[in-house]
Amino acid sequence: MNIGKKITVLIIASCLWGSSAVAEVPFGDKDSVSYADDLWSFMIEHKLAGHNSIMTRPYTGAPPHGMILELIEKKATLMGVSGELVVKRNYGGDGLTIEDVINNPDKYLQAVTVMFQREKGYDSDNKNWFYAKYAPDGSLMKNPKGIPLAGRVAKGMPTGCIACHKAASGGDFIFNHDRYNKM
Ligand code: HEC
Repeated sequence: MNIGKKITVLIIASCLWGSSAVAEVPFGDKDSVSYADDLWSFMIEHKLAGHNSIMTRPYTGAPPHGMILELIEKKATLMGVSGELVVKRNYGGDGLTIEDVINNPDKYLQAVTVMFQREKGYDSDNKNWFYAKYAPDGSLMKNPKGIPLAGRVAKGMPTGCIACHKAASGGDFIFNHDRYNKM
């Protein structure tokens, strides 16, 4: 191969690599962050998050989610897309009891982890779930590399929301539905 051809091949290869690298950002990008912000506003509006949100009876949880949890599931329509919205409130603190959480939820809330089933084609390999992990004030929490946890978190990686939720029985990525999937 002469040098000119080699350079052409290199340029094409680097363009291809560059474009696929951009297309493969599965989470934490600008669009995912802005989608997560809209989702948070929707949750505030419908009292699913924020001060004075609807309370359910908290229950004892396990890692990686909180010691004490609350779960709300409902159909939601966000920017014209209707899907299942699953909101999990994660509470923690030394010696925390269910009564402590009932009496003062704001004090012990550590994170709000959310899944929203988006339009077909959003993530066909993984049932089109959008994931987000918020701090109690609605800001997005970040992974150790500083990437905001919003979007297809962490698609293609061995750990993270998708890798773990894939294990839910019935292939729907929702552990809370496992009871429907047992024979
Ligand atoms: C190591 C495994 C694991 C990881 C990582 C994980 N989860 Fe979960 N998640 C679970 C398990 C197990 C449950 C069900 C038990 C419970 O409620 O804690 C659950 C429950 C949930 C639920 C309630 C719906 C359901 O499946 O029952 C939501 C929403 C949720 N997780 C969101 C997230 C988000 C968002 C992330 C990433 C930021 C995440 N999870 C990361 C294991 C995981």
